[in-house]
Amino acid sequence: MKIIVTKDYETLSEKAAEIMISVVRENPNAVLGLATGSTPIGLYRLMAEDHQKNGTSYKNVRAVNLDEYLGLPPTNDQSYRYFMRTNLFDHLDIDLSETHIEDGLAKDEAAECARYDALLRNLPRDIQLLGIGANGHIAFNEPGTPFETETHVVSLTENTIAMNARFFKSEDEVPRRAFTMGPKSIMEAKKILILAVGENKARAVREMAEGPVSPSLPASILRLHPDCTLIADEAAASLLKKGE
Ligand code: PGA
Repeated sequence: MKIIVTKDYETLSEKAAEIMISVVRENPNAVLGLATGSTPIGLYRLMAEDHQKNGTSYKNVRAVNLDEYLGLPPTNDQSYRYFMRTNLFDHLDIDLSETHIEDGLAKDEAAECARYDALLRNLPRDIQLLGIGANGHIAFNEPGTPFETETHVVSLTENTIAMNARFFKSEDEVPRRAFTMGPKSIMEAKKILILAVGENKARAVREMAEGPVSPSLPASILRLHPDCTLIADEAAASLLKKGE
């Protein structure tokens, strides 16, 4: 795993934007694996600015997202489909019909997981962007998820529900279940970019980069990927033995 430590969030977002934009510039038909959460918001703002200023085009880019809450319609402002539109897609020239995410309203959960796995096989990702949870989760793959898991439905842990409650009016409104790409699906991307910001991620970052490779810390699987870059701000990198 290549590790880049930046002094602050803005610099982290700039480095991440350089990587994402270069993937699109090298391949205008790129497939981008995208993520939600507070971490990539600065990156998405810079991608939108670059599109507007420098004309990087997403006309032929396809996007697949990691996860979606069960039970939220795409119009709900807490759904991840909504997040992607407002934070990124609405500011690019991307064709919305080529932006994919699990259907949070799917009635047949198993069929929806199978549909998404088939879609991922048809759209090999050039890059997969990730955040990391304070407990080491990637997407909604919580500790203990077997590495070979593909798209599945998860019950969110109390920790994740509490973390995500800040986006809802109250903790009661946070959906309890979600669809998520599995660790196996994540690892199939050609390149992985994982971002970590803030002191509350420091322990997970250390475990990911220096602890055992084990499903008890889902992000540790990324050490087995041949082309994975971690960008961490100084706070998130503060417990790492080795610096950059
Ligand atoms: P965050 O979430 O970007 O909101 O910190 C990351 C994650 O939990 O995967």
